[in-house]
Formats: sequence, C-alpha cells, structure tokens
Amino acid sequence: MSNRITTLFKIQYPVIQAGMIWCSGWELASAVSNAGGLGIIGAGSMYPEVLKTHIRKCKNASSKPFAVNVPLLYPNVEEIMNIIVEEGVKIVFSSAGNPASWTSFLKEKGITVVHVIANTKFALKAEACGVDAIVAEGFEAGGHNGREETTTLCLIPMVKDQVKIPVIAAGGIGTGRAMLAAFALGAEGVQIGSAFAVAEESSAHPDFKNRIIGAAEGDTKLRMKKLVPVRLLKNTFDETIAQAEAEGAHAETLKQLLGRARAKLGMFEGNLEEGELEIGQVSAMLKGIKPAAAILDEIWQEFLTEKQRISSLKF
Ligand SMILES: Cc1cc2nc3c(=O)[nH]c(=O)nc-3n(C[C@H](O)[C@H](O)[C@H](O)COP(=O)(O)O)c2cc1C
Repeated sequence: MSNRITTLFKIQYPVIQAGMIWCSGWELASAVSNAGGLGIIGAGSMYPEVLKTHIRKCKNASSKPFAVNVPLLYPNVEEIMNIIVEEGVKIVFSSAGNPASWTSFLKEKGITVVHVIANTKFALKAEACGVDAIVAEGFEAGGHNGREETTTLCLIPMVKDQVKIPVIAAGGIGTGRAMLAAFALGAEGVQIGSAFAVAEESSAHPDFKNRIIGAAEGDTKLRMKKLVPVRLLKNTFDETIAQAEAEGAHAETLKQLLGRARAKLGMFEGNLEEGELEIGQVSAMLKGIKPAAAILDEIWQEFLTEKQRISSLKF
C-alpha cells in the first residue's frame, strides 16, 4: 500500500516499531526495517557512544530506512543529536519534551522529524514547530504517557481533526484489527511498542518477555502521575508506588522511591519484583515470543482480512 506515511519514510507497510528503552536496539530495529516496517532505535537507555554503535550495526544489518527515538528530557540530548547528524540518520522520533527545542536543528540538516504527543494541544504545537508527522499516543500505551488519560479511541479523531500533517496512532495496537480501527479513526500509520517488546530480537530480558506474555487483563496501571506518568506491570515495586500514591505521596517521594536505573533493573536485568516493568494494556493479548518479521506479518495480514470483512458488510 502507499500513503503519506509509507511515502514519508520510504517503507512498505505503515507500521512503525516504537522506540523503547532497554528493548529496541539495532537487532529489533533492523529486523523490523528489513521486514518492510520502520524500525526505531531507542536512544533513551543509551549513552551517546552506545547509540553510535547501535546506529552503525543497524546500517550494517539493513539497507532499509530506520529511525532513532530521542526522549528530549535525556541529559545528553545535545551529544545524541550531534551523533545522529554525524552518523547520517535520516529520521528522528522525538518524545518527552518540547518539540520547539530540536525540530529546526534537525530539519535544517534534512532530517525527517516526528514528535510523540498525548494531547491535542501538543499536536498543534508540534505541527507549528514544523514536524513532518506526529505520533498520537493514547492511555493504553506502555511506557511514559499523558496526564490527561485520553484513550487512543478518543485521541486519534480529536488530533486528526486539528492537524494537517499525518497522524500515527499508538497505544493498544498489537493486532491487525486494532490497526484497522486506528485507520478508521484517521490514522495513516501505527506505532507499536508492547507487541514488539516481546519479539525475539528485542533486547528485553527473557524473564520480562515471559512475564509480559503471562500478563492478564488489568495487570497494568498508569502510575506516578505527579512525577512522570508511566504504565507499569504489577509487581512489588508497583505495589510500593500504588501504596505511596494512595497515601498522597508527592513528586519528590515518588522520585526517591523510583531511585536510579530501576527500568534497567526490571526490563534488561530481569529483576521482575524490584524493577520497573513498562508495558501497555495490550500485553494481556500477546501470546508468544516470535521474530519481529512474523509479528509484523500477522498484524498486516489481519489488517487486510478485517478490511475485507468490513467492506463486505451489507447494510
Ligand atoms: C518497554 C517500553 C519502553 C518504552 N520506551 C520509550 C522510549 O524510550 N521513548 C518513547 O518515546 N516511548 C517509549 N515507550 C512508548 C512507545 O514508544 C510506544 O509509543 C508505546 O509503547 C505504544 O503503545 P503500546 O505499548 O500499546 O504499543 C516505551 C514503551 C514500552 C512498552
């Protein structure tokens, strides 16, 4: 198929594998890109030199387009941006910060820029800053999230009605049916995180992947809204946070409880009780650990089948 998203990124399918700390290194990004989607290296958990290595390995593993995700609150953001330019990365997905800070710098270098938002106000701001497309990420999503708690079902049409640039839907999409629904709402592409976090090529710890596969409905909650809202899987750490929040904990207390490197501890090192386990609601639907290409193919085939089913409905 061909639309504004496949054309913008020069990809076969309008399916983007989300940038994910501790999960999306060069192995996952290159596998998705080689399968015809857009793979993204998640710079958020990488020191600048580590990112450089991942970019080089990704280029060696795939001749297809790929992107780098940069959370803009990242302490080494300037160094990261310089590496992106020096290494000739052509697409950047910025998130968690102000799109005004780096969009012009990247655009002047000829880089395609996409910004992740969770509300209409920031969608308009990102568009005004000159980004090429936006990812609208709903409440169901894994990882950091908006305070508004707007679900994907409400967010996509609200944003679509306000902006002219293409909208990529994210949050709760792990099947072709969900992708088709996002397209019905006005999205021209989908960004998928959780479903690719369990891919064979994901660098998440195998125990974390198995815990995701075993997750049931209701096992994730949006926590730490007074600090940085994040959707977490139930475990001892999550219970500690829930308890503190029930007692009215302020941002500073939550920051202390979070400490440092807790996401790495859980998602990369496999400490499933004390670590921070970021994952989306769609985890309750994920069934197995498969190659990224198989995940993409299943989603795409189901998208086509369901599209056919809907168009053959008689009224
Ligand atoms: C394990 C994990 C780590 C994530 N890390 C990041 C990140 O580093 N930067 C970012 O912009 N979003 C991050 N996200 C959000 C994803 O990029 C994506 O928008 C989200 O996962 C989409 O929702 P889904 O999980 O329902 O597919 C993360 C999500 C997960 C599940």
